[in-house]
Amino acid sequence: MNALTLFLPCAGGVEDFLADEVHGLSGLVGEDLLSLRGGVRVRGDWALMQRLNLHSRLAQRVLIELAHGPYQSEQDLYALAAGVPWEQWFTPRQRFRVDLTAQASPLKSLNFATLRIKDAVADRFRAQAGGLRPSIDTQRPDVRVQAHLTATHAQLYIDTSGEPLFKRGWRQDKGDAPLKETLAAAMLAACGWWQPATRSVSPLPLYDPCCGSGTIVIEAAQLLLGLPAGGQRRFAFEQLRPHDPVGWNAIKTEASGACPTSAGGQNDAQTPAVRIFGSDVAHRMVDFAQRNARRAGVAAALQLRGGDALQRLPPCAEPGVLLLNPPYGERIAAAGVAGARGGREAFQSGTLARQRAGGAAPADDVNAGDEFFARLAAHWKSHYAGWSAWLLTPDSKLPGRLRLKESRRVPLWNGPIECRLLRFDLTARRAPPPAPPAATP
Ligand SMILES: C[S@@+](CC[C@H](N)C(=O)[O-])C[C@H]1O[C@@H](n2cnc3c(N)ncnc32)[C@H](O)[C@@H]1O
Repeated sequence: MNALTLFLPCAGGVEDFLADEVHGLSGLVGEDLLSLRGGVRVRGDWALMQRLNLHSRLAQRVLIELAHGPYQSEQDLYALAAGVPWEQWFTPRQRFRVDLTAQASPLKSLNFATLRIKDAVADRFRAQAGGLRPSIDTQRPDVRVQAHLTATHAQLYIDTSGEPLFKRGWRQDKGDAPLKETLAAAMLAACGWWQPATRSVSPLPLYDPCCGSGTIVIEAAQLLLGLPAGGQRRFAFEQLRPHDPVGWNAIKTEASGACPTSAGGQNDAQTPAVRIFGSDVAHRMVDFAQRNARRAGVAAALQLRGGDALQRLPPCAEPGVLLLNPPYGERIAAAGVAGARGGREAFQSGTLARQRAGGAAPADDVNAGDEFFARLAAHWKSHYAGWSAWLLTPDSKLPGRLRLKESRRVPLWNGPIECRLLRFDLTARRAPPPAPPAATP
């Protein structure tokens, strides 16, 4: 298990941040660490695979590549899969599933391709394990086999993560449109508050004034405290044959020793002065965020409050970083003093009902959104001079709505939705020019 090829898929736009993160965790460079489209390829050992699962905040999964080769037909895929010694990775008593992704594959049916790979795995077991073969379980498999097809080549992987890594294990209370934890971490890296290559965080205060269930601020607080991203969950590699519980316990112990609280995260670590802040107009969301923060072991490192982003004053004296994914018409409307049809009740009865019905935002929500963003920019100019504001949005018109010009634009994909993280440097409103002196007779 010393020479594994690992592939860590990630959201589009995150590849270089993930390469930095893997470098920070492994020290690897050059050919051993390649940033590719849609993920990062790393050469390492079993221990590195475990550390990446435990610590990575940006990877969606950690896959071990077991075979790659050219293909033209489903039969070629069968042959490629039949040549993998699956019996070294799991037993015929475990249940598995096969997932397949493809880009420009010439094959007519990807379902049939998936079926042939599944047959090859099962047939190989039947031949090797005295007639025993593992069964399929698409809902709760012990083992996931992943195939990726390009126009000419196929890759076969075994998944070591299980549940995708954005599921950190602490979220039980969700908002209406929670960010994935991996995307929140990508925002923290893209705005520079977190430097994944050096595993350090900025001394600047961080404030999310539309924090919802708290994803951004909880990720930030875990980084500040040095808590491992996956300290509260299990991983698929714990069920694979090469699993070494002693080595894994040593890695977990090392991770919990590196931070002021246990990796189990039940005891909140104390920090000298809170510099991570979140607030939301919906008190239900603040309640969710507080409960999530407690489960994530960071409640004492955060300050969470209710309140309208259009009215809240800076939470601390020195300027810092505002980082948010603001309410956006079609998903979740602005509420509060500039909210759709007068605020929270409208937000609850309008937006949520619409979300349940799967409908789009009506025109008055879009107008209320314009009003919300114009007032937000005016409020920031009056009270947040010296702060930088970073907003994640799929809305290309957001700078116009804010009447601000962005100084940076980082493309980030939220699943299939293309978003941008926009930076606005907030300067104080210009004082009106002094009145001309009164004319003397
Ligand atoms: C897209 S969600 C943010 C989700 C959040 N990042 C999370 O992970 O849960 C937008 C949030 O803005 C909040 N919001 C809407 N209008 C607001 C206002 N005027 N002031 C503060 N928060 C507001 C909503 O309650 C919602 O939680």
